[in-house]
Amino acid sequence: MNQTLAIIKPDATANGKAGQIVAQLESDGFKLTAARMLTMTRAQARSFYEVHRNRPFYDSLVAFMTSGPCIPLVLEAPDAVRRLRQVIGATDPAEAAPGTVRRLHAESRERNAIHGSDSAPNARREIGFFFAEWERLG
Ligand code: RTP
Ligand code: MG
Repeated sequence: MNQTLAIIKPDATANGKAGQIVAQLESDGFKLTAARMLTMTRAQARSFYEVHRNRPFYDSLVAFMTSGPCIPLVLEAPDAVRRLRQVIGATDPAEAAPGTVRRLHAESRERNAIHGSDSAPNARREIGFFFAEWERLG
């Protein structure tokens, strides 16, 4: 799988970190294939994070992800899914390796600056969630 989905989350757009994060992803070797900026509705955020619906943080996560604009990105690189997970770092910035996007830019375990797909099947689903075929193939 040479494509994956990232989302620059609402904390990062509010804090003026979006440009720095895109620049870091590009300098780490990802090609930016598609991008948009949007504020998710509750229905969209609930659907995107459906897999977490029974977790204690689900309602809070949906509130956070609908709190302001986010920037979904399709990123292309060899072994894109695994490489993006390395570049973004652990969920909690306190546990993320030095130099990772979350270590550099995240506020907390929830407000953690960026999302990255965690498997090839999820990357396919998540790219399809935000982008139409004509945008991905252009
Ligand atoms: P993501 O899906 O956003 O790339 O993050 P992840 O795989 O590292 O973490 P995941 O377990 O999938 O959780 C999804 C997002 O939910 C929020 N979260 N809050 N308060 C908490 O304990 C908690 N745990 C997770 C984070 O925004 C996390 O990225
Ligand atoms: Mg996840």
